[in-house]
Amino acid sequence: MRSVAVDTENKSYSVLIEEGILENPAEYLRKVWTKRRCVILTDTNVYPLYAGKVSENLSEAGFENMIITVPAGERSKSWETLSSVISRMADFGLTRGDGLIALGGGVVGDLGGLCASLYMRGISFVQFPTSLLAQVDSSVGGKTAIDIDQGKNLVGTFHQPDLVLIDPMALRTLDERVTVEGYAEVVKCAAMKGGTFWKLVCGIEAPGEILKHAPELIQQSVAFKADVVSRDEKEGGLRRILNFGHSIGHAVELLSAGRLLHGEAVSIGLAAVNRIFEQHGLTEEGVASAVCGRLAAVGLPLTDELLDDLRVLEVMNHDKKVSKSSLTFVYLKKIGEPAAFTVSLDELAEFIGKI
Ligand SMILES: NC(=O)c1ccc[n+]([C@@H]2O[C@H](COP(=O)([O-])OP(=O)(O)OC[C@H]3O[C@@H](n4cnc5c(N)ncnc54)[C@H](O)[C@@H]3O)[C@@H](O)[C@H]2O)c1
Repeated sequence: MRSVAVDTENKSYSVLIEEGILENPAEYLRKVWTKRRCVILTDTNVYPLYAGKVSENLSEAGFENMIITVPAGERSKSWETLSSVISRMADFGLTRGDGLIALGGGVVGDLGGLCASLYMRGISFVQFPTSLLAQVDSSVGGKTAIDIDQGKNLVGTFHQPDLVLIDPMALRTLDERVTVEGYAEVVKCAAMKGGTFWKLVCGIEAPGEILKHAPELIQQSVAFKADVVSRDEKEGGLRRILNFGHSIGHAVELLSAGRLLHGEAVSIGLAAVNRIFEQHGLTEEGVASAVCGRLAAVGLPLTDELLDDLRVLEVMNHDKKVSKSSLTFVYLKKIGEPAAFTVSLDELAEFIGKI
């Protein structure tokens, strides 16, 4: 059993990674939860694959439960879905001592975490991520959110789970394009961490190898994120390094209007930021091609016609992480050595140059 400890100021919990957890989650749940009622929140894709089995296993172990299914996709991170899930939790008679299990990708995790943090001022919560992105990134760190018309993730809380259960076997049913986009976050973490994690990623030459090495890739990614979150739970400073590649990535993702998946946009952002900083002599020579090589090995895009669109700059100017008329980029001095660099918005176009 692989296990990573997450120690934040307010809470410590374990991330357990093991093939087969989906067959008997109650065995691990029992160690952190006394018998209680719980809601299993899932989506329409994950429900027929895993929810029935999980529910049955929990019932047999004495955890009376109800499954709530929301439509698959980002649109479920909405006020309407939040409200309907919370009403159903109340109809089920959930009390303060009960819990919620988020079984699905990052959408279910973000929505479920928010429901758990708001219902009766906060009930206990377990993350049971089934997509690669959720397993390596979103299930750890306690950020919960829904989207509003004005922007993604603008409404949310910090609510740490009691436990994160990860079964890498779940990835076998995940669409390959979705697996590969989640892998962009793995390359991001490995490039910042360096060492054995980077070496492991350097050995991945095709999408099929992601699944083969999934337990180790997940453990390394979670350990990296756990370390960052343990030192800066609420993004006061250090946690911002997790936005590496995201400023340009977010802008391209938004302008693509759904054509690019989030991880594909992050890949384009990672490639661009490394190229720009290498051109400025701030990133060691060769780093950009090394990172691009890892992304391209699994078929992730490195560029897009949208990078020539002047609206990219406009969107970056409105990035919610812009403060005091400047934008802080995370870049690599070299593999394993991330750093931050602040550019004033007046100089942004010149600094980025031709991406
Ligand atoms: N809280 C955080 O720290 C954090 C960090 C990064 C991203 N996020 C959020 O995560 C979300 C993206 O997560 P995602 O990529 O997992 O999206 P998602 O939850 O929409 O899952 C992607 C797709 O895969 C399906 N799926 C999931 N597991 C499956 C499985 N095992 N087999 C078959 N299909 C499966 C889902 O139904 C969905 O269609 C975004 O809303 C993003 O904002 C949150």
